Amino acid sequence: MSYRRVAKKDEVPDGRGLCVQIEGIDVGLFRVEGVIYAMENRCPHAEDPLSEGLLEGPIVTCRAHGWQFDVRTGFRPEDGDGFPIPRFPVRTVDDWIEVDIHAPAGR
Ligand code: FES
Repeated sequence: MSYRRVAKKDEVPDGRGLCVQIEGIDVGLFRVEGVIYAMENRCPHAEDPLSEGLLEGPIVTCRAHGWQFDVRTGFRPEDGDGFPIPRFPVRTVDDWIEVDIHAPAGR
């Protein structure tokens, strides 16, 4: 485990995500009911940053062409058996968000 401190909790906006860079990888941070989730910030369709999409509940809608993903799982809501966007474990320490990009989050 190698958690990196990436942002303060209150930097993650409501209704969309926050992009942070960790070792050259763009990671999107999303808040759902007070819990922070982290996943690769590239939409698999045409690589638009998902952190710029609209977040409603756990579903982020890509601003480019409307594909949707559940930020808790990385899967498209209508395709739970498809190939998910890679997600990463998150922990919070005091007011800070820490992410470990070397330990993919479980399904
Ligand atoms: S780039 Fe995300 S839906 Fe096309």
